[in-house]
Amino acid sequence: MNLTSDLKTHYRSHHCGALRKKHIGRHVTLCGWIRRYRRMGAILWMDLRDRYGITQLVFEGKSGAHLDKSGIGFGREALLQIKGEVIARVSPNPNLPTGDIEVRIVNMEEDMTVLATFDTTGLPEGSDGPPFLIEDKTDGGEELRLRHRYLDLRRATLQRNLRLRHKICRVIRDELDAHDFIEVETPMLVKSTPEGARDFVVPYQWHDKQQVHRGDYYALPQSPQIFKQLLMIGGLDRYYQIVRCFRDEDLRADRQPEFTQLDCEMAFVQQEDVLNCFEGLVCSIFRQIKGVDLGPFPRLTWREAMARYGTDKPDLRFGLQATHLTELVQGHGFEPFDTAEAVWGMCVKGQAAYSRKQLDALADFVRSQQIKGKGLVYVKLQESGITSSVRKHYTDDQINQWVEKMKAKTGDLLLLVFGNDHHGPRGLEVQRVFSALRTHVADTLGLCNPDKWTPLWITDFPLFAKTEDGFGSLHHPFTAAQASKEQTDRLAFIGQELKKLKKNQEIPASLQTEALRLNAQAYDMVVNGVEIGGGSIRITDTRVQQTIFRLLGLGEAEIKARFGFLLDALRRAAPPHGGIAFGLDRICMLLANAHSLRDVIAFPKNSAGRDTMMGAPAPLPKTHA
Ligand code: AMO
Repeated sequence: MNLTSDLKTHYRSHHCGALRKKHIGRHVTLCGWIRRYRRMGAILWMDLRDRYGITQLVFEGKSGAHLDKSGIGFGREALLQIKGEVIARVSPNPNLPTGDIEVRIVNMEEDMTVLATFDTTGLPEGSDGPPFLIEDKTDGGEELRLRHRYLDLRRATLQRNLRLRHKICRVIRDELDAHDFIEVETPMLVKSTPEGARDFVVPYQWHDKQQVHRGDYYALPQSPQIFKQLLMIGGLDRYYQIVRCFRDEDLRADRQPEFTQLDCEMAFVQQEDVLNCFEGLVCSIFRQIKGVDLGPFPRLTWREAMARYGTDKPDLRFGLQATHLTELVQGHGFEPFDTAEAVWGMCVKGQAAYSRKQLDALADFVRSQQIKGKGLVYVKLQESGITSSVRKHYTDDQINQWVEKMKAKTGDLLLLVFGNDHHGPRGLEVQRVFSALRTHVADTLGLCNPDKWTPLWITDFPLFAKTEDGFGSLHHPFTAAQASKEQTDRLAFIGQELKKLKKNQEIPASLQTEALRLNAQAYDMVVNGVEIGGGSIRITDTRVQQTIFRLLGLGEAEIKARFGFLLDALRRAAPPHGGIAFGLDRICMLLANAHSLRDVIAFPKNSAGRDTMMGAPAPLPKTHA
């Protein structure tokens, strides 16, 4: 056999998706798993499935009469090899590519080999087949399917998604290859590469036994960020890598502890070059995979996005923008509004008929554990007049001012949320609550059309943000500040002030406040509300890089120990460079119209970050300890 031959092997002449009318009369050999069977009198039909499709088999005469599970000891999902003649089906199935034909088996003893039975050992007592239906619409819950992932993988949906993933990678490699990018592998056993999550660590055991490096650990990379910068300093000019990254962080449907990035870097570029290049790549992926033209991507600054949508990854398939009502609504004796730092409203067009029950459900959503909002105020603008949960606090005239500001009309529903407008432990409250409500309302009203694609760039991120721990980089510490004179001077001033600090002296809050006014040369790409990629122009000036580390609270010794090699490399004539990394799993999830990353990863972790099939993570076996 060589690489150019078809799928014919010593086991089979065709695969289960191959046979058509033109094959009628041919004698074929197929291999596949039994999907299901049904009997009518002495005739038995069976669907045989492999990766390529399904072929119906028909066992006739003696063969059909004797063939059932009890008779021969195998059932659904057993693996067969059969030999038979391709015949026309009496009643064709237009929904199946092989629906015009079936394969007739006359002599079961000679023409059928059971390659492997489906053994139910280890499955619940009484099982006579797989623990869930191996069909597109399965009856198995996700946890059960993850525990038996190799069976789940036999389902057409997962196979389709993995084929799609393969195709996306091929398009990416072809496109980047055509533009002089080269794929370079970077190490997996590294020192911490900070991307804002905790590291997964690997003990250095072999040397431990030799008593050499007791207590030493590698970290698994959160991203290849530092290595790709070193590749630019090494003169590689254009790099990419489809690479596994590891982050020990809170999990969500669009996060896995182990995920794949399409990681890219270019030398001698400014932000605009990177945006153009990768907008082109993503357009090309969508054109080749979905046949859609995304057109030029709109851009929003981080501040615009936060003010309009309350999030830096807005779904633009629908409007529902925020109107800031704080000043209009305060000072009229309604305490929740008066004590809030911000009150934001959204106008839901044509939904004034929302029932009390629906509005209560929305209010429950806002106050839920997940969202933790303070409450919801509604205003219904109906022909009969205004109905509102705050009717007794506001006159018609006052409410009409909100209506005017929100450009609302009779028939519309206004929803108002309120809360803090500063960085608390869960971020900016009113923004978070507004954004969650916006997505929830859009979902409820069916505004998230799965065939509509709304990409955009978010730009002009702040360089730093307040975080749960106090203060940190919004992107990562290698991101350059914007190059305007005002920003450069501010950064230089911060650098000088830092130099005046005594050893171990805390960074004064005033310097952090100053730093919060710096903007980054950073950008995110968002499609339908999913952040699919993010990147930045990098710092190449060693002094600036040191200033950033110092601002983040690292002392001189720690900077040297953790990043001395990078600072040294930056001193050796580093070219200007920048790049981006895409979440490959997220791109696949979008293009597969899937709702979870688990649907596009062959062996994902469950929602608690565990592999329940292998039983990982687990305590170390004694032989390793
Ligand atoms: P960032 O941290 O934004 O940037 O990651 C880039 C993209 O990777 C995807 N992503 C994830 N996907 C699945 N599970 C996760 N836990 C997860 N975390 C991130 C997202 C995200 O946009 N080194 C920088 C890139 C750069 O500056 O060039 C970085 O890693 O789609």
